[in-house]
Amino acid sequence: MLYSVYMKTKVYYNIKQLLTLEGAKAKDGRKINKDDLGILHNAWLCVKDNKITELGTGKTPVADENINLNNSVVMPCFVDSHTHITYAGTRAQEFELRSEGKSYLDIAKAGYGIISTVKSTRSASVKELKDISINNVNRMKKFGVGFIEAKSGYGLDVETELKQLEALKEVKKDFPFIASTFMGAHDIPPGNEDKEKRKKDYIELLTNELLKKVAENKLAKFCDVFVEEGYYTKEETKHIIKEAQKHGLKAKLHADEFTDQGAGELAVELKAVSADHLLCVSDKGIQALANSNTVATILPGTSFNLGLKYAPAKKLAEQGACIAIASDFNPGSNSGLNFQLMLMIAITQNKLSVAQALCAGIYGGAKALEIEKDYGHLVKGSMAIFQVYDANDYNDIFYNYGENRLKDLVFA
Ligand code: NIG
Ligand code: FE
Repeated sequence: MLYSVYMKTKVYYNIKQLLTLEGAKAKDGRKINKDDLGILHNAWLCVKDNKITELGTGKTPVADENINLNNSVVMPCFVDSHTHITYAGTRAQEFELRSEGKSYLDIAKAGYGIISTVKSTRSASVKELKDISINNVNRMKKFGVGFIEAKSGYGLDVETELKQLEALKEVKKDFPFIASTFMGAHDIPPGNEDKEKRKKDYIELLTNELLKKVAENKLAKFCDVFVEEGYYTKEETKHIIKEAQKHGLKAKLHADEFTDQGAGELAVELKAVSADHLLCVSDKGIQALANSNTVATILPGTSFNLGLKYAPAKKLAEQGACIAIASDFNPGSNSGLNFQLMLMIAITQNKLSVAQALCAGIYGGAKALEIEKDYGHLVKGSMAIFQVYDANDYNDIFYNYGENRLKDLVFA
């Protein structure tokens, strides 16, 4: 029998400021200024089948359901395009060690760091990892995040890397707004053999067995590598990413975080979707990113939490790169997930303007996940996911930083 399901039309009205980000979309997130926020005053949004069908100002059209937003400020959801939400255990004690003057890399060498999370994650079940991830997702949503990227990388063996990605697959059944990334090359597996030998063997396992399983079971959209002294070299990264691309995975890189590895340039060469961190990116790297389609993702919370320098976001923006801001939420280098605070830090420390930061946390994040066709803006055809703020003006989010003025995150 043929039948049709009638979806109701909904109109959200009484919006004091509606940030559409129409300009950011039209300019693909580059050379952003205040006009690119596309602000409408006294506005309304019409939604059907989870999509925006109409929007405008003044007299509100009649729909099946009319929802009063009580003079609030509305914008698209934030997109957190770089997180490590699926892990077990805590490393709160490392925070104290850093407060006593030890660096992230020194702490890692002393046996803490990523490897300590690997141990606790290896002994967790899929169900435990699922519950931990859902809890992290729910905490992120409270600050306006409606789409999240999540990485593996705390297993460093076949079983646990797949377990992390399986747990994320389970999370997606409740919350589908997640993009998974396989990050087997996050560190070198622990063991008794010489580190270089362990790394060589692991790269073989990763490229011959793991990538195949990840691709076959459709467990990830992206593949990420930590290009850094003591982790993966440029050559090793190239090899891993090229193999991943053969399996249909898109590339992302942890690039130039603690030292300049030429990883910004490498990301462009490999046609990576994004190059993330970039604290130590060279001028050559900045130029390469600006002239490419690779998103320059800054993670201001990591610099803030580790007390390090800030990525040259202003320079990247001036030269024409598309910037994304993400949290890098993880148990070690940044254990804060308040997305509003990430933008605040990007404004005061990376020296982005309010408009640049908002566009980077919304449109830039969407582009860094290749979902910018549907997400990152509120125009005709956009996904109807938006933040509703109890504020007089969008600047209040930062003006009153540390306070959360988000009233609702609507999945219409
Ligand atoms: O993005 N840089 C490598 N990975 C993470 C840190 C992960 C951890 O410390 O557990 C990062 O900063
Ligand atoms: Fe990271």
